[in-house]
Amino acid sequence: MTDDFDPVAHNRVAWDDLVDNDNEWSRPVGPEIIARAREGDWSVVLIGHEPTPRTWFPDDLAGIRVLCLASGGGQQGPVLAAAGATVTVFDNSPKQLARDDEVAAREGLVLRTVLGDMRDLSAFEDAAFDVIVNPVSTLFCPDLKPVWAEARRVLRPGGTLLTGFMNPDVYIFDEVALDRRELVVRHRLPFSSLDLSEDDRLRAYGDGPIEYSHSLTEQIGGQLAAGFILTHLTEAPHHADVTAQHLPGYIATRAVKP
Ligand SMILES: C[S@@+](CC[C@H](N)C(=O)[O-])C[C@H]1O[C@@H](n2cnc3c(N)ncnc32)[C@H](O)[C@@H]1O
Repeated sequence: MTDDFDPVAHNRVAWDDLVDNDNEWSRPVGPEIIARAREGDWSVVLIGHEPTPRTWFPDDLAGIRVLCLASGGGQQGPVLAAAGATVTVFDNSPKQLARDDEVAAREGLVLRTVLGDMRDLSAFEDAAFDVIVNPVSTLFCPDLKPVWAEARRVLRPGGTLLTGFMNPDVYIFDEVALDRRELVVRHRLPFSSLDLSEDDRLRAYGDGPIEYSHSLTEQIGGQLAAGFILTHLTEAPHHADVTAQHLPGYIATRAVKP
């Protein structure tokens, strides 16, 4: 790995490749989900397959300005737009954003897509949004301090930050063994797939996105340090890997900008 390696540039290409390979988080919602959302029957996930509690959102989504942050793939954005919100989807992967544009065109939904790195939301003015919806994605971002600072800036006072992230504890396990559904403790935290030798990383992660465990201090403490007030927190087992038998692999939080 050279000194000028840029993990976010790497992850842009890696996520575009995941889209081409039919990644679960790149499959757009179908017309029946959009039809139901138009009738007010909708839910979106922040973590795994867990519906986010409806009470975490405003009662009425009509006209609510929602930023779906690192949330491409044609999933949360189109559903919230069909439910009446004014939606912007921001993501680092052009192909993930193309999924949202596809659903919007298919369904006649109005939705804006913006390409970029979640550490820099300078495409948006201060207080431009009422709600941020950020499904599991911070594991792909090297540094979270700017993410929480930018999230706070682009929310209006009283606005809500909904975010889902990995329980860092899942990163103590060897990834290759996890693929065999075995739990082998291998790593110290904090962990990044960049800590591995290139051979080991390619064996475990292929040419996929670079991942970072990020501590709870970075995830939850970071939101608090940025000035958010935490109102809710839930945990859930990982939807796919074998850690689910032993610990909650995911955490979701709701925080408010005072
Ligand atoms: C697991 S997907 C989340 C979206 C998906 N719809 C979901 O429900 O989980 C992770 C997303 O984070 C995006 N991403 C990764 N790093 C990013 C960054 N630095 N800035 C913005 N988006 C990023 C990826 O391109 C990908 O679309």
